[in-house]
Amino acid sequence: MTQFKDKTLLVTGAAGHFGRLAVAELLDRGATRIVAGTRDPSQFDDLAARGVEVRRLDFDDAASMSAGFAGVDRALIISTVAHNRTAQQTAAVAAAKAAGVQHLVYTSAPNARPNASVGGIADHYWTEHAIADSGLDFTLLRNHIYADMTIVAAASALASGQLFDATNGGGRNYVSREDTARTAAGALLGATGKEIHDVTGPAPVTQEQLAALLTQLTGKPVSRIGLTGEQLLGGLEAAGVPTFMAALLVAFDLDAAAGHHAITTDAVEHYSGRKPQALADFLAANRAALTA
Ligand SMILES: NC(=O)c1ccc[n+]([C@@H]2O[C@H](COP(=O)([O-])OP(=O)(O)OC[C@H]3O[C@@H](n4cnc5c(N)ncnc54)[C@H](OP(=O)(O)O)[C@@H]3O)[C@@H](O)[C@H]2O)c1
Repeated sequence: MTQFKDKTLLVTGAAGHFGRLAVAELLDRGATRIVAGTRDPSQFDDLAARGVEVRRLDFDDAASMSAGFAGVDRALIISTVAHNRTAQQTAAVAAAKAAGVQHLVYTSAPNARPNASVGGIADHYWTEHAIADSGLDFTLLRNHIYADMTIVAAASALASGQLFDATNGGGRNYVSREDTARTAAGALLGATGKEIHDVTGPAPVTQEQLAALLTQLTGKPVSRIGLTGEQLLGGLEAAGVPTFMAALLVAFDLDAAAGHHAITTDAVEHYSGRKPQALADFLAANRAALTA
């Protein structure tokens, strides 16, 4: 499914972890006209050597977006982490439309919605809304929580022996960032129409099961401690996590508690051609990072 491999394909945020993986996948799958958009093109000598055109593209800089999207047929807009990302991403959608882009792929989040309680998840809803409103074709990829995030959480869990969460026993279908990036590249290469997909791993995993996996892989006992959302927010802020990010993490936990993360789809296999990696396999492959 690479019918658009000879179209001009843009990846925004190409210097991020996701962006680099997506550009690499486009190269591997035979794309011939790739544009990598980034705030800092100086980091991309390696990609330029492989025929990728590198453009400066910053969602906070309208001029860079006019030039960045010029001549592009299909674009992958990678969500940012800034507190003003609704404005950033909405501006990017408008710039893409003005430049004549025909299809947008966007990295969204599970159950994106505008409710006041969901913190930064609402940003994804308003971006999805802007994309739908643009009249362009789109593939909205609601990426579930990266398996990679468990390695970040594992550091403090392994140090203290306690894994804190507010999921109330709800499962979460972790998916590796690499699988989500390959999926997004696949959609850029082949998707048509207007579609929304949840992008998940092969099966949901509870925090209890995650604690057991960490114990099994490292030999260090980890117990799962269930908290309320308020308790978790306080703990994250006390640990120095910025409020915007802490609120987002808590909102994701509460969504897991409500069952929104316990679904399974075939989107990874459909767009990337590979089965998604299970969390246990991901953690086993990254065991060194757990014990570092
Ligand atoms: N599903 C999950 O569990 C999960 C977890 C974390 C994050 N996310 C989301 O997924 C995205 C990609 O993840 P990642 O791991 O690749 O994050 P990352 O490595 O931290 O990269 C941040 C991304 O934001 C882009 N960015 C920041 N400011 C920008 C601006 N003004 N204009 C355009 N782009 C801007 C960066 O682009 P350049 O540096 O190239 O300009 C880069 O692609 C994140 O930004 C976040 O929205 C999802």
